[in-house]
Amino acid sequence: MEVGGIQALRTWRRRQSGTVSLVPTMGALHSGHQALMDRARASGDSVVTSIFVNPLQFGTDEDFFQYPRPFEADLEVCEAAGVDFVFAPALGEMYPSAPEVTVSSGRMGAVYEGEARPGHFDGVLTVVAKLFTLTAPDSAVFGLKDIQQFCLVKRMIADLNFDIELIGLPVVRDADGLAMSSRNEYLAPADRAAALAIPRALDAAAQAAADWSPRDEPPTIVERAAKLVLDPAADRGDLTLGYLSLVDARTFQPCASDFRGQALLLVSATVGGTHLIDNVPLEFV
Ligand code: PAJ
Repeated sequence: MEVGGIQALRTWRRRQSGTVSLVPTMGALHSGHQALMDRARASGDSVVTSIFVNPLQFGTDEDFFQYPRPFEADLEVCEAAGVDFVFAPALGEMYPSAPEVTVSSGRMGAVYEGEARPGHFDGVLTVVAKLFTLTAPDSAVFGLKDIQQFCLVKRMIADLNFDIELIGLPVVRDADGLAMSSRNEYLAPADRAAALAIPRALDAAAQAAADWSPRDEPPTIVERAAKLVLDPAADRGDLTLGYLSLVDARTFQPCASDFRGQALLLVSATVGGTHLIDNVPLEFV
């Protein structure tokens, strides 16, 4: 396994004759990231994992400086996953100065996570575009946990003509149901217990969707089922609900009352100061 910055990546990339698969990350790697690397191994002859905490996607009041950076442990995870090249550029190498020209995430980047974190998705897409250009991968693997990010990357690939196959992997969860996240490290035990209301709410919504009859309005029944679980958690003061919304998977617009087709239930919450997101795909046919 090689580890390096931009020059080393370019040299390594020129030597590759087979297909290359990219897994972009910000490090603090967990089993969710590992699943992406395993998937990349299965789809490309070589795998590049990038580890870069991208300041452009953090708001000024967010956790850029606190974000965990266990670099040596991350390298061990990459080595065990059979990664060929770990791209770990220095901050000044990726951004010698604040960029003038960036990618705009448009309307889909201004709702939900984009509304809660202004500028976030422009920062994500700008760094992902740079990673695509630098790595020139045949495929790239992203997690569906960050579903809005995934949909925006898909849109950017189409709109900017990147010749890259996008692969999405389902949310990887801990045994208690909480979606794995590098930010879970911030949760005290009591916060973690409160955070479990999130996967439970998604389960309740999935059950409501399974029991759905065409007389019912999809947004009403799933949002009500999820709220029944989340509201008592909020009453204890541990959990503050951000958004809870059933959206059309193709457009990210809220589902109309007579919606039919593939939907996503999106949820965000702040637990003990930590911002968490999760989602579940639900079908109404
Ligand atoms: P990061 O939060 O490190 O996540 C890297 C990738 O791992 C993303 O595609 C994310 O969706 C995926 N992932 C994280 N937790 C997951 C889980 N529990 N199950 C499945 N996949 C999971 O997302 C970013 O970094 C950054 O925005 C990045 C794309 C690297 C750009 O800076």
